[in-house]
Amino acid sequence: LARILDVTGAIWSHKTQLALREAAALISAGKLVAIPTETVYGLAADATSDQACAHIFEAKERPRFNPLISHVADYATAARHAHFDPIADRLANAFWPGPLTLVLKRKQSSPVCDLVTAGLPSVALRVPDSPVVQELSRICDVPLAAPSANRSGRISTTSTADVVRELGDSVDLILDAGPTRIGLESTIVAVNGDQVRLLRPGGIPTSEIEALIGAAVMRPDETPTDQPQAPGMLASHYAPGAGLRMNATTVAAGEALLAFNDQNIGNRDAAIAVRNLSPSGNTTEAAANLFRFLRELDGHKPQMIAVETIPDDGLGEAINDRLRRAAAPRP
Ligand code: TXA
Ligand code: MG
Repeated sequence: LARILDVTGAIWSHKTQLALREAAALISAGKLVAIPTETVYGLAADATSDQACAHIFEAKERPRFNPLISHVADYATAARHAHFDPIADRLANAFWPGPLTLVLKRKQSSPVCDLVTAGLPSVALRVPDSPVVQELSRICDVPLAAPSANRSGRISTTSTADVVRELGDSVDLILDAGPTRIGLESTIVAVNGDQVRLLRPGGIPTSEIEALIGAAVMRPDETPTDQPQAPGMLASHYAPGAGLRMNATTVAAGEALLAFNDQNIGNRDAAIAVRNLSPSGNTTEAAANLFRFLRELDGHKPQMIAVETIPDDGLGEAINDRLRRAAAPRP
């Protein structure tokens, strides 16, 4: 089983530095380390090594080689791997470190391996708002390729306990920084000149990106599809064991309820288990609770998880995107 090292202390503390050194040694040796980003836990490997990154796909049991996000310590490092047009530059300055992934034209000189880019001419880059991950990438002196630390198609992990349950026997070390702050994956946009395309809604509301660039972001087709632009957009994804239905206005026998706000749907009490994403109706709080509550409700083995209506504002767009995928028919 994976070793777990506590990195909740200050980044310069002896304990955290020892943990980072151990993690760096494993990454440099081509092994996997679970890392605590501010969005969700990641399953990290040396992004310049095809052999190391192959272990990621093996551990996740990914059905195909989706390209991976490369995590770097800062913007200057990111700029070694991709071309930043003026719009990409503004996005990086405004939102890094933070839950924004930029898909940009890759520099020929970038040592990022083919498994990370899936052979595409682009590369996905992110500076996570996590001193632990930034420092680890700095010590290793390579970008860290990291998808969410869950088995393919399942709910992303927001705590060390989740990571142990999902990947405990296939990861060498877990860096434990406690529950993740945002709780939802990063927003992914592809930037091509003046064109900004949303590949996945996430931790930065799309409206904030539009406000910054002063133009509309091109949205993917709202309908989940099996011909994804970003493979993270597979129709059935983020799936709990139980089925899930959205916009529930009543609870049926045997169902668990994922509530939001104080919607008076009448028979909340009929549910075999209830979690309220945000009693006050705050979508940021709801995002932070989403994956944990889905796991907890799933643990009650309900017939179905009924989810109340969640507005599309703020992080609601990303939450509803994940819920639509969890509700989609399974392959
Ligand atoms: O918050 C996050 O983004 C988390 C944490 C660990 O950083 N990571 C994450 O990674 O969610 P993953 O692998 O679960 O999702 C990454 C998505 C995939 O859908 C992948 O297809 C897309 O990013 N992607 C990566 N590189 C791409 C590229 N060059 N072009 C288009 N899509 C790309
Ligand atoms: Mg994922």
